[in-house]
Amino acid sequence: MSKTVTLIPGDGIGPTIVDVTIELLDAAGADLEYDRQLAGMAAVHELANPLPPETMDSVQRTGLILKGPLTTPVGSGFRSINVALRKELDLYANVRPAVTLMPGGRYEDIDLVMIRENTEGLYVGVEHYIGMQGDPKAAAESVMIVTRYGAERIVRYAFDYAVANNRKKVTFAHKANILKYTQGLFLDVGHEVAKEYEGRVGFEDMIIDACAMHLVMNPYRFDVLVMENMFGDIVSDLVAGLVGGLGMAPGGNIGSDVAMFEPVHGSAPDIAGLGVANPTAQFLAACMLLDHIHQGDVADRIRTAINQCLRTCEAVTRDLGGSASTREYARAVMDKLG
Ligand code: NAI
Ligand code: MG
Repeated sequence: MSKTVTLIPGDGIGPTIVDVTIELLDAAGADLEYDRQLAGMAAVHELANPLPPETMDSVQRTGLILKGPLTTPVGSGFRSINVALRKELDLYANVRPAVTLMPGGRYEDIDLVMIRENTEGLYVGVEHYIGMQGDPKAAAESVMIVTRYGAERIVRYAFDYAVANNRKKVTFAHKANILKYTQGLFLDVGHEVAKEYEGRVGFEDMIIDACAMHLVMNPYRFDVLVMENMFGDIVSDLVAGLVGGLGMAPGGNIGSDVAMFEPVHGSAPDIAGLGVANPTAQFLAACMLLDHIHQGDVADRIRTAINQCLRTCEAVTRDLGGSASTREYARAVMDKLG
């Protein structure tokens, strides 16, 4: 049965890479219908609201979002709509697979998955200034909140993901040596949940700074990584760097009722409108969506075509050292569909 997806083309390069993604999905035979909705700057311009109720109504109906990047103004203006979407829809698990697709980079054959807690930690938004001696900003405080509930569901998600995807090991990265309470609770829960999967999935815990070093020295020792929100934010960009950069990295934001798929990169205002953006991360985000709704055979066709194109075609985009436009590269990928 055909599935309806809430489609948010987004800002900057978003509409360009989303348009070719829909063409590719159609060409590959994805059984999808699209409910186009606005969010971010595009929604501010048309509806004077960065997250309009029409968009949220659509999401409640479909439970599924394919999203381009959204621009967040720095400093002033509305807060991040990406963070708002994750929070309001309780999309607690951020899943970012990193797989080498283009040979000749720093590493060959990377294949690991980063799972980041998406709702707690330092991102709960509990922060304020402390005034002292006439200086209203003499100090500032941000509160890190970790709950047993939040820790348990993200670690369980990581293990269930490992089981479902035939992965062998979960590495739990933390800073419990210094943050004995917040990170300590997170680590305790990690060990408790790991026991339930003993004999099925391996488990190790590792201090986050050592983990960063090992990821650069020998990324092959990792399989599934799980960590709290801010560590995950930082390390997932590092992991994207292992496989050729942001243009290649897709992400899923998964909750109990809704799942949202998007590239890891932003709206790239520096190249917006030039027609040269690399749409691969958006393609791969669409593939993750297809996997999620049991159209994995279509996703595999698309991934194989991307793979062949990146290994053999001349037509790659500028960020990968080529000179093809977004559209020329997308056409080359479609030509490879078996
Ligand atoms: P960015 O990811 O948009 O760009 C960083 C650099 O990578 C730029 O030089 C850009 O040209 C390049 N780049 C990114 N994606 C590319 C692609 N597909 N092909 C070729 N080159 C690409 O990060 P930046 O500039 O920090 O953020 C721009 C805006 O995007 C900001 O408003 C930010 O808040 C927002 N953003 C949105 C995200 C989302 O919607 N999930 C995630 C990250 C940032
Ligand atoms: Mg980030």
